[in-house]
Amino acid sequence: MSETQTAPLAVIVLAAGQGTRMRSRLPKVLHPLAGRPLVGHVLDTAAALSPVRIVVVVRHEREQVARAVADLLPDAVVVDQDDVPGTGRAVELGLDGLGDFAGDVLVLSGDVPLLEPVTLEALIATHRDRSASVTLLSAVLAEPAGYGRVLRDAAGDVERIVEQKDATDHEAAVDEINAGVYVFTTDALRRHLPEVGQANAQGEKYLTDVVGIARRAGERIAVGIAPDPAAALGVNDRVQLSEAARLLNARTVRRWQRAGVSILDPATTWIDVDATFEPDVTVLPNTQILGATTIAAGATIGPDTSLTDCEVGADAVVRRSDATLAVIGARANVGPFAYLRAGAILADDAKAGTFVEVKNSTIGEGSKVPHLSYIGDTTIGRGVNLGAGAITANYDDIAKHRTEIGDEVHSGSHNVFVAPVRIGAGAKTGAGAVIRKDVPAGALALSVAPQRNVEGWVENNRPGTAAADAAARARSAQETSDGTQRQDG
Ligand code: UD1
Ligand code: CA
Repeated sequence: MSETQTAPLAVIVLAAGQGTRMRSRLPKVLHPLAGRPLVGHVLDTAAALSPVRIVVVVRHEREQVARAVADLLPDAVVVDQDDVPGTGRAVELGLDGLGDFAGDVLVLSGDVPLLEPVTLEALIATHRDRSASVTLLSAVLAEPAGYGRVLRDAAGDVERIVEQKDATDHEAAVDEINAGVYVFTTDALRRHLPEVGQANAQGEKYLTDVVGIARRAGERIAVGIAPDPAAALGVNDRVQLSEAARLLNARTVRRWQRAGVSILDPATTWIDVDATFEPDVTVLPNTQILGATTIAAGATIGPDTSLTDCEVGADAVVRRSDATLAVIGARANVGPFAYLRAGAILADDAKAGTFVEVKNSTIGEGSKVPHLSYIGDTTIGRGVNLGAGAITANYDDIAKHRTEIGDEVHSGSHNVFVAPVRIGAGAKTGAGAVIRKDVPAGALALSVAPQRNVEGWVENNRPGTAAADAAARARSAQETSDGTQRQDG
């Protein structure tokens, strides 16, 4: 077909249904799938086709859905469905939203999220090549239950579509289903939609009836059979939602594997559609890479790790950890069992080790917080080492305060930094210190009272106990070996 004959394209997305089978407060089309609402996938696919206009029909939880649509695709036109139920009514009102548009109208269902632009481009091409009134996408499914069936005549031409609930046993045995995606000429919709009634099992105005009506009017009905039937999956309940998630994830995993990412266990690795990787990243089992996370070359993530909206630098290692809105520098080391919260920034070569929680804090280049620590609202310079059990006490019950730790500070084990407080560059702190006052650069800060040993306390105060007996034995052995009285510590 020559280009001069190509009609302009508009898209109508159906998103007004209640989604009863989800049994959810959240409207069905807003249920998340791989980090995006169901309808977001459909809008993305629609936008990829560069239509002159995209109309989204809404009704159930109207405000919430309309707001989501505006966020996802500000150019989309939102149109309200009235109280006449059914996909046919939705398209009728969507068509009004197209004004005086004349051309081809692609209708997409907001709950059919896995179709790819190339499949739809092929469908549109079929529609134009065949000069059809209606072109529908069908799929042949081993388990067609729940879908509308495509009924063909003896010659193999499509006669009509029958919904599951209206089908005879004979019709229900047909395994070719209607994917809920069609191309219509505006002309066919304008002429036939007003003829569609509601005399069916659901009392709805079915869009699918347009097919039979157009056929009876002697118009051409074309069909594109989905090359990958699984991509035609409609999400009506949470079983289908998880199936869609599995299929989309498998597609995403394969795409990144082909782009040079080692993903050891696709079945237990979940990657959202907006996450990105450089080559030579390794992802170990039971790992979720979510949101807009980006991972640079050579990093190793997992096992048992969740990253949400994080930025991971080259050659970093993140093991058995959970991080959200964190920046992890090149060659940084995280985990096992670290918890990085919003605003955690690890500079290059930094470390947040085992049972370490970091929030709204920067750990400077090469600095280490290796064990059992809480670091909140803190700035740590370069080359710092915090001993095991470092706690920044950032909250005084009224407000959050900052801790500032200068370059090359080394703290003893089990320190509490009571914010607001500053530790000058190169300073050191003793074990168990509670740092309530600023420490000057290069100072040693001690806050624990000197130790006092009360000799013989156990034997005097707990005579006859196992501890007293053990102490007595140890003392006599010591006296024998030394031949002298033990010196007072
Ligand atoms: C529909 C098709 C069915 C097809 C299946 C594919 C009809 C009558 N049936 O059935 O042939 O096999 O999709 O997945 O079209 N919607 C509205 N307004 C409404 C009702 C629905 O906008 O009044 C929207 C829904 O939000 C949804 C889409 O249309 O995004 C499909 O509606 P749904 O009720 O899920 O139709 P199915 O029973 O799945
Ligand atoms: Ca559906």
